[in-house]
Amino acid sequence: MEWLCIIETLFFGYIIVQFLRLVFSDCDLQLQWAEKLGKSTKVLSRKVVWITGASSGIGEHLSYELAKSGCRLVLSARREDELQRVKKQCLTYGNLVDSDIFVLTLDLLKFDKHRPAVDEVISRFKKIDILVNNAGRSQRAEWEKTSLKVDRDMLELNVLSVLSLTKLVLPNMIDRKEGHIVNMSSVAGKMGLPGAGSYIGSKHAIQGWFDCLRIEMFSKNVYVTNICPGPVFSNLLQDCFTDKPGQTVGASMKTGANRMSTDRCARLCTVAIANKMDEVWISKRHFLFLTYVNQYMPMLYKWIANRMGIKGFSKLKEGKL
Ligand SMILES: NC(=O)c1ccc[n+]([C@@H]2O[C@H](COP(=O)([O-])OP(=O)(O)OC[C@H]3O[C@@H](n4cnc5c(N)ncnc54)[C@H](OP(=O)(O)O)[C@@H]3O)[C@@H](O)[C@H]2O)c1
Repeated sequence: MEWLCIIETLFFGYIIVQFLRLVFSDCDLQLQWAEKLGKSTKVLSRKVVWITGASSGIGEHLSYELAKSGCRLVLSARREDELQRVKKQCLTYGNLVDSDIFVLTLDLLKFDKHRPAVDEVISRFKKIDILVNNAGRSQRAEWEKTSLKVDRDMLELNVLSVLSLTKLVLPNMIDRKEGHIVNMSSVAGKMGLPGAGSYIGSKHAIQGWFDCLRIEMFSKNVYVTNICPGPVFSNLLQDCFTDKPGQTVGASMKTGANRMSTDRCARLCTVAIANKMDEVWISKRHFLFLTYVNQYMPMLYKWIANRMGIKGFSKLKEGKL
């Protein structure tokens, strides 16, 4: 019977270690293991990676991480001057030369520009290895006060533009029997949260749409990764939708809040991409904990969320809880 005791001790020891790893970490357990024992991000060297929303925030810092790994980059967004700044910084990392980084100004809401943009990237680099659908806008508003026009505008950018660009990039990947679509989703795409219904709905849509694509692409050697960050420092509040069409929050994020640094988030995103992970959760522990509770104990999550309400969640985000 002694060996049974040993097995039991090992089992409970393992559970306790995993629990402590979860409590003190800033990402899910699988991503933690991948960061320590998985493939090095250097496997991405010379890959052609197209990042939308590369002019600020997570997309900007992800560009730096990918440049450090030796990727050739296509940097997209609306503000060309900001993209040129990001390109200049990328060239200070690794062994990249000017022609390895292509600045492609693109407003994703101009759907007729998607085809020419894809053609331009393919004619320059002959292929697209990885598409990172990162560009997006958030929202601060109550559900019942939100104009339907805001819901529509949110879906156009956060969902339909992503579907459109992906549908145009996929044939090149399928022909080459190699490719990777990466989506910047959110932990908000995993659970209901108050105060940003249109945004949260748009991220749930991304999760659903791309969970389906992942299965269809399995036999074609094209991978799909959904990255789900919690609160991260960025410019997201500047351009953030409210409940009224055309209005933005126009605020900056406060330092000292429960938000992860942008470069740490970008580093973990790069590990997830290098290891072709299906879905990862990246967040400081408050939102990471809630994501786990929602996934494995949904009734408890609903009980907590109902009691926290809009005020509780915004306090949690701003580090006041
Ligand atoms: N920060 C967070 O707490 C957080 C958490 C979870 C998920 N996310 C997700 O992370 C992604 C990046 O957001 P971020 O936090 O890094 O915010 P950000 O700093 O505001 O970056 C948003 C990016 O999207 C681009 N963009 C916006 N509208 C566009 C359009 N019409 N066409 C092309 N590009 C457009 C912006 O570039 P231009 O203005 O130059 O066009 C910018 O580069 C978003 O999908 C967001 O939902 C963020």
